[in-house]
Amino acid sequence: MGSQWGRDGEYSRAVREGYRSRAAYKLLEVQQHAGVIRRDDNVVELGAAPGSWLQVVRSLTDGRVLGIDLNPIAPIEGVETVVADLADPGLPARVKEALGVVNVVLSDAAPKLSGQRSYDQARAVALGEAALGFARAVLKPGGNLVVKSFQGEDFPGLLAAVRASFRSARTYQARASRRGSREVYVIGKNFVGGDAGAE
Ligand SMILES: C[S@@+](CC[C@H](N)C(=O)[O-])C[C@H]1O[C@@H](n2cnc3c(N)ncnc32)[C@H](O)[C@@H]1O
Repeated sequence: MGSQWGRDGEYSRAVREGYRSRAAYKLLEVQQHAGVIRRDDNVVELGAAPGSWLQVVRSLTDGRVLGIDLNPIAPIEGVETVVADLADPGLPARVKEALGVVNVVLSDAAPKLSGQRSYDQARAVALGEAALGFARAVLKPGGNLVVKSFQGEDFPGLLAAVRASFRSARTYQARASRRGSREVYVIGKNFVGGDAGAE
């Protein structure tokens, strides 16, 4: 992932500040903008390797922190990790059993890019939808969600689906995302479950 981002200024800054990747700054921005993580929250991150968001989350909460990825995540003190596909239908039950309460779900998951824009965008949105399905299965009412997606024709459907399950849903484009990138984070706050919260 480091090579994809190049050794630009922010990458060097991340190394200097002890983060595993410059993605850390995106979550710090989201947190500053929307305050999604509270001091005692239990937080689950999907698509969490190599682990820079987990490092940030660990510093923001005294609750449990769990990272899930297709790839193993090198140990981080005070962080639990699981190797799994976020779309595995058995995953929500495993996570609920392990953590009990889940207050926040984050997903920075992204598919390997093929270079075919509309295909990649559709796969990214599908991952976002799977992350939303996971969040709906595990989140405590009142919980928060941050899910990475990409602007494009399938994106409004994902935003509407988040809107249907949270009291508020908005989008945020991080300054730390690459210039010209269509990467966007959907932030759902105050989970109401099901479709009861449709605006
Ligand atoms: C941009 S990286 C995440 C960076 C991470 N937030 C950090 O700060 O270090 C995207 C990750 O999504 C993971 N991923 C992609 N598809 C996945 C899936 N179906 N289940 C779990 N993880 C997935 C990839 O393995 C990759 O590690």
